[in-house]
Amino acid sequence: MGREENHSSNKKVLVLFSTGTGSTTRIAETIARGLQDTAEITLKEIDLNRQSWPDPSGFDAVIAGSAIRYDRWLQPMSEYVKSFEMELASKPVSFFFSCLSLAGGQAGQNSARKYESWIRKLVPAIRPVDVRGFAGTLNYKAMPLWVRMPFRAAMLITGLRQGDYRNLSEIQDWASGQSRAFSRAWQTDVQNARESFPAQVPG
Ligand SMILES: Cc1cc2nc3c(=O)[nH]c(=O)nc-3n(C[C@H](O)[C@H](O)[C@H](O)COP(=O)(O)O)c2cc1C
Repeated sequence: MGREENHSSNKKVLVLFSTGTGSTTRIAETIARGLQDTAEITLKEIDLNRQSWPDPSGFDAVIAGSAIRYDRWLQPMSEYVKSFEMELASKPVSFFFSCLSLAGGQAGQNSARKYESWIRKLVPAIRPVDVRGFAGTLNYKAMPLWVRMPFRAAMLITGLRQGDYRNLSEIQDWASGQSRAFSRAWQTDVQNARESFPAQVPG
């Protein structure tokens, strides 16, 4: 997806994602769709090629997320947000992650809370509007062989079956909520600017 023209403001939102086996792409696309009436959306995958990383400075808000591997975001997204921590700290930002823990029971919820707090600690200068986890997919075919074998063994213990656990309507609802939160934050910025420089900010 490139830039969307079907929006009612001149605000620009950057939606970023990293994926290992492909399923977080659909999550990010769903988030982008949930925001497209509010802002012009740029959707971009963050991979190891730093040359392709967009500078978030030209955007009014950013949503960034990644699949979880071994309790962490994928390396490209972790490095991206650290590289642009200061630029991101000055605008509304929301984070998300996709994982299998949220496809399971209570133990999974506890793991998801740990992922959330890991993300917050990764970039302490950023005060995110929200950090949200979504259930992802379990697709052995998409994994390299050397990952597939130990993963199957681990999933035998949890009892989780191969399948798609993404809930696209939950994801779209979350995106709509972020869109409303961003609009409020932009409004507050205008208000603050008016109070600081009353003569220069148009009413
Ligand atoms: C090597 C590997 C490690 C993973 N580690 C975790 C983990 O620590 N916690 C978790 O909840 N899910 C874990 N997962 C599950 C993925 O987060 C889940 O399958 C996600 O939907 C993958 O998204 P992607 O297809 O965009 O890479 C792991 C998956 C793989 C392949």
